[in-house]
Amino acid sequence: MKQFAVSPLKNSIKSTISVPPDKSISHRAIIIGSLANGKTEIKNFLASEDCLNTLKIMQQLGVEISNYNNFESVTVIGKGLHSFSESKSILNCGNSGTTIRLLSGILSAQSFLSILTGDDSLLSRPMGRVIEPLTLMGAKISGRENNTKAPIVISPGILHGITYEMPISSAQVKSAIMFAGLYAKGETRIIEKEKSRDHTERMLSAFGATIKQEKNEIIIGSEQHLEAQNIFIPGDISSAAFFIAASSIIPSSEMVLQKVLVNPTRTGFINVLKRMGVKINITNKKEISNESVADLFVTSNDLNAIEVKGDTIPLLIDEIPILCIVMAQAKGKSIIKDAKELRFKESDRIKTMAQVLRKLSVEVNELEDGLEINGLSGEPFRIDNSIEWPKHFDHRIAMSIAVAALKANEPVNIPGSEWINTSFPNFEKIINQLQMAAV
Ligand code: S3P
Repeated sequence: MKQFAVSPLKNSIKSTISVPPDKSISHRAIIIGSLANGKTEIKNFLASEDCLNTLKIMQQLGVEISNYNNFESVTVIGKGLHSFSESKSILNCGNSGTTIRLLSGILSAQSFLSILTGDDSLLSRPMGRVIEPLTLMGAKISGRENNTKAPIVISPGILHGITYEMPISSAQVKSAIMFAGLYAKGETRIIEKEKSRDHTERMLSAFGATIKQEKNEIIIGSEQHLEAQNIFIPGDISSAAFFIAASSIIPSSEMVLQKVLVNPTRTGFINVLKRMGVKINITNKKEISNESVADLFVTSNDLNAIEVKGDTIPLLIDEIPILCIVMAQAKGKSIIKDAKELRFKESDRIKTMAQVLRKLSVEVNELEDGLEINGLSGEPFRIDNSIEWPKHFDHRIAMSIAVAALKANEPVNIPGSEWINTSFPNFEKIINQLQMAAV
């Protein structure tokens, strides 16, 4: 196991940083570039383990993908929707739910067999949520444990459009259905009760697909022609969240985060922190590759407790572990509700964060669909040596613990820090820079 020690900061943070490129958009750039016709050049691709799994699988399916200067840019030579070939080996998605679910949609429409697998965490996550709608579309797709878990086996199928009311809010499921819809006979309609991230819709439109969006309904026609594009990938707001949180909980801090994605389906964390009292200014806003990008200027402040629930949850779903750390520093009891989906992420993030908070001597109540957290009103976290850190396979838990350690009473060896590479390969370097700058 990799060791990564974080010591409490002795001073406030005054820094300007760039965060890694967006993970969700990096996956989609490789996939949609592969579906398109022509040369797609991707600048600022996230070369993390999850996105590299997507890249390798597209290569296994016969797509020509190359990178220059250690992933400074990636070139995808797309040959259209029907250009893929059978892989001789099983397609390994590693820890990446986005890879397995998005690719299930495309592979359901191919004329060859595919088998998708992943690591222990991925093998325990729910796959019925993609298997069910794809089966309704005519896919021949099955999975372990009565079609609810990976490995997933997909045989050649002929797809037709469906109208599908999403039982849960999930951009991965929505995207799998949209990709399958590109191949299906007739229109595919997806109805979302709560809006999830819309990067697939945006990128498919940028590549020339016709997608109609009416209120909470997405309509996608079949056999569309996608034309290659050049893409710039903005900084990942979900990665930025760890440093927004650090500069929110360390008194007198100021931090600038450059070129961060501010797509409204992803900015729930910024809005909630503002409501808690953090000052966040959004400047230099631009539209790049059909996505909004801006610089964020964050200033710490006293934090109020807050309740977060309902349709805000999908807008900050990946940021909830680090939001728990911020809530644990606020004054009063904060509540997270309607977030049962957290139980199906890389780890059961409700259970894992409850244990992390207890280890940090924070009073916490685990709910079926969330957490109640009694904040420490800015007092440092005390590491409780009678409680174990949770065992997890989860990058966002490890990074949340690292941020809490900046405000703890003693140095912490971050448990499971090797998982951080799935989304944020230079996280440790930035934490070290903050520690050096704050002595
Ligand atoms: C993602 C969607 C979200 C998110 C995940 C990435 C995506 O999951 O948690 O990290 O890229 O589509 P859901 O499918 O549950 O929304």
